[in-house]
Amino acid sequence: MLGAQNLLYLNRIFYYKSASGSDRMQFLFESNLKEIKAGVLFVGLSKEQVKKQKKGVLSEVLAIAEKTDDFKGEKAQGSLIVLPKGFKAKKVSLIGLGEEKEITKEDIRKTAGSLVKAAKAKKIEDIAFVFYSNIKESDWVEAVSETSIMADYSFSKYKSAPEKPQEKETKIKKVFFGAKKSNELDKLVKEKEIIAENVNLVRDFVNENAKDKNPALFAKKTKEICVKAKIKCSVIDAKQLEKMGANLILAVGMGAKEKPNIVVLEYNGTGKKEKPIVLVGKGITFDSGGINLKPTGYIESMKQDMAGAATVLGIMKTAKELKLKKNLVGLMALAENAIGSNSFKPGDVFKGLNGKTVEIGNTDAEGRLVLADTIAFGVKKFKPKLLIDYATLTGLAMHITGGYAACFLTNKDELYKKMFDAGNEVFERVWQLPLYKEFSEDMKGEISDLKNASKNKFGGTSSAAAFLKEFIGETDWIHLDIAPTAFHDDKESEYCPKGGTGFGVRLTIEYLKK
Ligand code: BES
Ligand code: MN
Ligand code: ZN
Repeated sequence: MLGAQNLLYLNRIFYYKSASGSDRMQFLFESNLKEIKAGVLFVGLSKEQVKKQKKGVLSEVLAIAEKTDDFKGEKAQGSLIVLPKGFKAKKVSLIGLGEEKEITKEDIRKTAGSLVKAAKAKKIEDIAFVFYSNIKESDWVEAVSETSIMADYSFSKYKSAPEKPQEKETKIKKVFFGAKKSNELDKLVKEKEIIAENVNLVRDFVNENAKDKNPALFAKKTKEICVKAKIKCSVIDAKQLEKMGANLILAVGMGAKEKPNIVVLEYNGTGKKEKPIVLVGKGITFDSGGINLKPTGYIESMKQDMAGAATVLGIMKTAKELKLKKNLVGLMALAENAIGSNSFKPGDVFKGLNGKTVEIGNTDAEGRLVLADTIAFGVKKFKPKLLIDYATLTGLAMHITGGYAACFLTNKDELYKKMFDAGNEVFERVWQLPLYKEFSEDMKGEISDLKNASKNKFGGTSSAAAFLKEFIGETDWIHLDIAPTAFHDDKESEYCPKGGTGFGVRLTIEYLKK
């Protein structure tokens, strides 16, 4: 059993905001803008609303902004008003949103994210938002609550404390909404808070050192989180995997000190015996490429290769905390793809859990191997009504979408629309690629049933999925290649810094709620 001390320690690593209570971001409502006591009150305005609001509580502020900054509400136009008369906020800052026909909810998220970061840079801890545009109140409140938490995120545990205390990173303490409190809005904010905190949890895992999340430690940390969150969690260790004949996942882990395992998370939200949706995550805790070693330029970010597994954990924890009425099973396929004398080698043949044999064409095509056994296990054991897998599976996927969407593949095209719509709603977009039977032809083996690397040097994202298809059988299946979206190598966005993004949690929760 875990001692309280361990939980505290865990708290510090993973929950520095969420579970510790005191440093949790606070959300407050105050519909009288003048009454909001914050370091800065951010007012987002469409061009149309700049004119309309001239009569209201902002009349004086708008007059100053027009005079000093020629403020018209053009997109991204800003104006800072210090100490306006009658306002309890220290500053009022106006931000243009542009023309209403072009403003989307994502614009609000991006604007709020940028403003959160601007406030942090100016050492302001208490901030307030109000938006006047075509975006309805519940939508901007929702957007602000999730982005405030996501934009405030930083992975700073390995940063030494700065010598000058004033250089310490500012964490946002209070976020006010210039809106009237209601049960509906309150519920929305609480929900988004849970989701965003879990996005940050996934980011923490992805950003962590490979050595601190090797298959054994990742399983242990997951268990600890599940004890706290009251999620049923068990681990299938290497010995059991051997007995089950899961030789594909075992092969991938042969060169590593810590052997593979599959973490099983179960959440029954319907209270009934209904068939579950099974979520499978690729959890390669470091992908060196194995004997087909990755070169410099490609290997540096490979601690991210467990993002799929972390996403599954994040989704399961969110579902539990939101009490979603779904039966879910999460399977985290954990292994390290290391290089050494014990590593599996090109030319080796292994028999998977479902009886199919695979010749290794390339040890760097390891993700599909760990997924193959885990998918086969999930289908056999849980007879799911749908299986979704999350995997940083192919570098090609990034080239296809430019990092702006995850690749979606399925054995049932009708499943696409709902996930596509969910992706657009939360701006975690997916884009479908074909799964022609020709791709399956490309994966056939000569001395074995299958090969893990395609004979066709093109179409690698589809052929990887075609390989997985051999292990799913008749079950409805969605494969998400999240290589394009799981990790920001060198670009940060308005509400996500460099490193792990937490992509997939918001997408899936939106999908499950629809
Ligand atoms: N983990 C990588 C894919 C990847 C690349 C994820 C870049 C995120 C960023 C995966 O295991 C891999 O190495 N795939 C190979 C497959 C090939 C050897 C058939 C690839 O995409 O090059
Ligand atoms: Mn690889
Ligand atoms: Zn990989």
